[in-house]
Amino acid sequence: MCGIVGYVGRAEAAPILLDGLRRLEYRGYDSAGIAIVDGDHVETRKCAGRIADLSKLMAENPAAGHYGISHTRWATHGKPTDQNAHPHFDESGKLALVHNGVIENYQQIKETLLQEHEHHFASETDSEVLAHLVGQIYDDSAVGVLDPRRHKSLLVEALRTALQQVIGTYGIALCHSDIPDFIVGARRGSPLVLGVGKDENFLASDVSAIVAYTRDAVYLNDFDLVAVERDKFEISSLGGERGNHSISKVEFTAEDIKKGDYPHYMLKEIFEQPGSVRDAMRGRLSLEECTAKLGGLNMTAAQLRDVGRVVLTGCGTALHAGMVGEYLIEQLAQIPTEVEFASEFRHRNTPMTRDTLVFAISQSGETADTLGALRESQRKGYRTLGICNNVASTIARESDGGVYMHAGPEIGVAATKSFTSQVVILNLIGLLLGRMRHLSTAEGTRLIEALESLPEKIEEVLKLSDTIKGIATKYAEATGILFFGRQLNFPVALEAALKMKEITYLYAEGHPSAELKHGIIALVKPELPSVFIAPDDAVFSKNLNNIEQVRARKGPIIAVTTESGAVRLKGIADDIILVPDAHDIAMPILTVIPLQLFAYHLAVALGRDVDKPRNLAKSVTVE
Ligand code: AGP
Ligand code: GLU
Repeated sequence: MCGIVGYVGRAEAAPILLDGLRRLEYRGYDSAGIAIVDGDHVETRKCAGRIADLSKLMAENPAAGHYGISHTRWATHGKPTDQNAHPHFDESGKLALVHNGVIENYQQIKETLLQEHEHHFASETDSEVLAHLVGQIYDDSAVGVLDPRRHKSLLVEALRTALQQVIGTYGIALCHSDIPDFIVGARRGSPLVLGVGKDENFLASDVSAIVAYTRDAVYLNDFDLVAVERDKFEISSLGGERGNHSISKVEFTAEDIKKGDYPHYMLKEIFEQPGSVRDAMRGRLSLEECTAKLGGLNMTAAQLRDVGRVVLTGCGTALHAGMVGEYLIEQLAQIPTEVEFASEFRHRNTPMTRDTLVFAISQSGETADTLGALRESQRKGYRTLGICNNVASTIARESDGGVYMHAGPEIGVAATKSFTSQVVILNLIGLLLGRMRHLSTAEGTRLIEALESLPEKIEEVLKLSDTIKGIATKYAEATGILFFGRQLNFPVALEAALKMKEITYLYAEGHPSAELKHGIIALVKPELPSVFIAPDDAVFSKNLNNIEQVRARKGPIIAVTTESGAVRLKGIADDIILVPDAHDIAMPILTVIPLQLFAYHLAVALGRDVDKPRNLAKSVTVE
């Protein structure tokens, strides 16, 4: 959460910092702010609200200068107000700082600064305390030092000393009005990347903020500090050692993160799924050996064969994909598989056998809870692999191997294409592990064919968008929505409910269909539609029983089903969304997409801010 951008170069900093923030707005949108050094003083503009509000403020009262920092906030400490918006200043008013993360011991530090130095604080944030601490240390050390070149290293040292006292997480950028053309960054637990340009350099929480200016990036590691000037940068560790980092090429271009003709990123990303699903399996299926090839796992055939248990961990949508994965890996490879909320898994002592393989699933690769789960599992000595979309993200870098989704940037806060890519990858893992055990070549071939036919079938599903829009509009007055599914489609019910909650703010729940009669049925009424994900599979008749139970109580029914299922549901379901028939393992991909569209169209009908729903942020880098 929170997006940070820093710039030092020859161009006007303001448009670059604002443009970067717009690209990072998915990370948080409680408030936004900017600090630019103009001559010998820092100009700051900040306000509660969106980047658009900050842009307005900047248009009314422009700030000029060639270096500065900016921030879009997802509040953790203090309300989303103008005062709490970043940048924050030190006591002298010369040092401006933006922060992503949480300073856990900010109260003790604040207490000391109040008592020993009589500091004045303008906000309720933890971040402001850090600005004051760095400023105090810098001012103490810079007294009487006249050589301006030494001020740079003193500022870096002040930040280092301050961070050594800090408990918590941070991605930081700061600048000082006495030190021209110089910004400093640091990270621990929150991402920070350095963009290397020609006669200009950048700092950002995510490369998408700077990819329009440079595709050369240095991904900083935890405990790195970086001193950035126009034409050079220097990385060092929190302990003071010089860092050695290589420059990587960013995989995507500025074009890839544009909305194009779509009204929202979410819709664009839903429609990208034929391609993203294809990219998730590209080069990874072998019809000759009837299996999947996943070199990135960094495991030998013997090691893979010895896997006796699998744990899949993640949060939100990634967790739901993991739940599909549990069915898949158990069904295809017969390996006992558990799904764990990353936030729970990392704090409890789950009994695990030596032969357990752990997968951390995360689109962003930066989710704090999932990263915590990965580290805890590695600390205990388990091989831990990542399933990530963001190349070079922290989870991708820290895991012992893994599989990239290659879904391209996902900007909409509601995850869509990453879910289907994750399900494809979990299928590949199930297939690979299965084919090393009892799965026959014939079944392996059937699975590959099922996966390979997906992009075309997804195209069919996407053609239903207008029909689904009609259904969504019809239920715009609903007080909430229930989702039900069985087996592989049960996690789809959870995922559909999550999408609905996130972007429509309607009350929504997902359950295994059979649970209906154990309590949920008490909720059924004409104003509360139930969506049944019921393709004509082995459990279709069971689903049909549950559908009848809702119908008997006058609950409206929307069914997501296949052609033969639709025949049996005629006159029973109020609305039918028809998806192409497919192998069970591919079905969750085909059933979730219409429900992504359903949530999307309903949210639009209700006038919601689809790409930036209230209270949320795309990448949750706090616990
Ligand atoms: C999904 O729509 C959510 N915005 C959220 O649940 C998300 O899936 C979760 O925060 C995990 O994110 P990650 O995949 O980047 O780790
Ligand atoms: N703790 C800081 C604040 O509340 C930064 C929050 C974040 O990174 O999400 O302003």
